[in-house]
Amino acid sequence: MELRHLRYFVAVAEERNFTRAAQRLHIAQPPLSRQIQQLEEILGVQLFERNSRPLKLTETGKFFYAHAVQLLAQTSELESMTRRVGNIERSMSVGFVASTLYGLLPKIIRRFRDENPTVELSLHELSTMDQMRALKDGRIDVGFGRLRLEDANIRRVVLREEKMIVAFPVGHPLALSKPVCALRDVINETLIVYPKTPRPSYADQVLAAFKDRGLEPRKVYEVREIQIALGLVAAGEGISIVPSSVYGLKRDDVSYRELDDPTLVSPIIMSMRAMDESRDIREMLELIYRLYDEAQIPHVAPAEKGQ
Ligand code: BEZ
Repeated sequence: MELRHLRYFVAVAEERNFTRAAQRLHIAQPPLSRQIQQLEEILGVQLFERNSRPLKLTETGKFFYAHAVQLLAQTSELESMTRRVGNIERSMSVGFVASTLYGLLPKIIRRFRDENPTVELSLHELSTMDQMRALKDGRIDVGFGRLRLEDANIRRVVLREEKMIVAFPVGHPLALSKPVCALRDVINETLIVYPKTPRPSYADQVLAAFKDRGLEPRKVYEVREIQIALGLVAAGEGISIVPSSVYGLKRDDVSYRELDDPTLVSPIIMSMRAMDESRDIREMLELIYRLYDEAQIPHVAPAEKGQ
């Protein structure tokens, strides 16, 4: 039995008439009748009731019709899926920490897709720690995070060092009185840090910044993610130290102030498997530096990349 037999049979069963079915299939009626006869012979069953007008399926014919329709749908799916696979030359999975969404990540992804339409790109929100495991397991091919985690199997490229800023509830006296703040100015506030888990995380970078300066915030409130930290800041629960790209997230209930210390930075780090020399990774890295140059964003020079 050939697929052709199924297509002819389904047309006749649906049109309930050989002439109309032949027209639908763009063939002459006699070969269509012969093909249906041949199908009945191959199967050794009667699919249509003899001499019925309009044509009626036998019980066996109804069973065969239900399965034939499914099979034809599957072959058409197979056709389109195979075409798609044929057109997708490459695929790349990207892990990222949420805060990079406020930086260049959306632009990078859009531009990469425009420039590489046959690469299937997928995005996965993962902490920097989880990115390490996902890289080694092959679940992602590249990760964008903020921690300098040591691992012999992972190559890191520090892309840029982003300034940290303070997020205050709008109308907070410190935000009103100080255009630029020092960490010591905010130690009497509740410090909202994220992510609470897994550790170490960006939260530890912020806590270390205080500790390294011999400072201790009065109270620390750990939350799951940056959006919750900013929501709680807006609600007046405390202040948060965030990367400066969060400026881009215009909220009228939060005021941002710069910090006076240029060493208060959080890196954006691209991680990949140590021996992975793939063309996609090279192209993504080149694209990132191109976007930095276009937008005149200070960054670590490519020659200094990798550690
Ligand atoms: C950036 O904002 O510099 C950036 C964000 C995500 C990936 C790479 C770079």
